Amino acid sequence: MVERGVDLGVDIGGLRLRYPTLMGSGCYGSGEEFAAFADLSKVGGIVLKSVTRLPRSGNPMPRLVNTSAGLLNAIGLQNPGIDWYLEHEVEKFAQRPCKIVGSVAGFSVADYAYVCERLAARLEIAAIELNISCPNVASEGETFACDPRLTAEVVRAARGVTKKTLIVKLSPNVTDIAAVAREAEAAGADALAVINTVRGMGIDVERWRPRLGNVAGGLSGPAIRPIAVLAVYEVARAVAIPIVGQGGIETLSDALEFFLAGASAVGIGTANFTDPRIPERIADGLAEYLAKRGLRSISEIVGKANLGFASAHEYEGDAG
Ligand SMILES: Cc1cc2nc3c(=O)[nH]c(=O)nc-3n(C[C@H](O)[C@H](O)[C@H](O)COP(=O)(O)O)c2cc1C
Repeated sequence: MVERGVDLGVDIGGLRLRYPTLMGSGCYGSGEEFAAFADLSKVGGIVLKSVTRLPRSGNPMPRLVNTSAGLLNAIGLQNPGIDWYLEHEVEKFAQRPCKIVGSVAGFSVADYAYVCERLAARLEIAAIELNISCPNVASEGETFACDPRLTAEVVRAARGVTKKTLIVKLSPNVTDIAAVAREAEAAGADALAVINTVRGMGIDVERWRPRLGNVAGGLSGPAIRPIAVLAVYEVARAVAIPIVGQGGIETLSDALEFFLAGASAVGIGTANFTDPRIPERIADGLAEYLAKRGLRSISEIVGKANLGFASAHEYEGDAG
């Protein structure tokens, strides 16, 4: 979309968005719940809640815990399963005024390929995001996204069943996210989403018990933003494919950090729970920010904070 002479559109590995914003998986439903509060024609796209082969009822309650600078969640991938989803949900997505990205989760490589193939076959689904922050039950339960070899395997399998844009969502819960990113790219990813939630826990000091029913959860919101910005910065130097940067974005300035670190679009998740108009404000603010500097597209700021270090080791004096 051209606003103030600025083209806010972006191309994310073949997925063309009118605005450079994607609503984070699990944080926006399919848009229906937000239509009364937000202008869906002013968001680039919605990433749907992750869907699995079989229905899942999710983790024991409580599943959400507020913290001083973010939200801990352990929903446990509650979803109706791919059969129900295709039969009852997907046709509604045709009416949305923005792109709809399906999100696939699974517990084996075969699961991912199966769900991906069925979801991607639908015209309502413009692209597929792989949520690989799940344990692989076929081996020792290690998380796909935490093992470069497993990441490559699952991406290759998904690549084999669809030609649609394949976005692979990386986890920050690794030592070297750039190494995982390189494997995902080599295995056929068209784009990367960086990052999913950061592992965390809260404890109720009156009851002496974990606050989440599942004990551990994923932290999102402003607390994780600096973690996410660094992850985008490092991944951007490691791969040539576009990045959707996300983690704690609430304002234009937050979003700009991600573009300057190397993201071509931004994901907005938790912030929508408190203010569903944040994505619109970011889009408007971006047009103004770029126009004021005489710039005509987002690509002119992507990665501009990169100082050109050859490797992370060159600035590794980060121990405090
Ligand atoms: C309640 C909740 C549910 C989520 N569910 C999913 C999910 O099903 N699949 C997924 O890939 N990410 C899921 N996420 C992660 C978000 O999409 C996003 O990547 C993460 O929260 C970081 O961005 P944010 O700080 O803007 O929320 C979930 C996050 C929250 C808070």
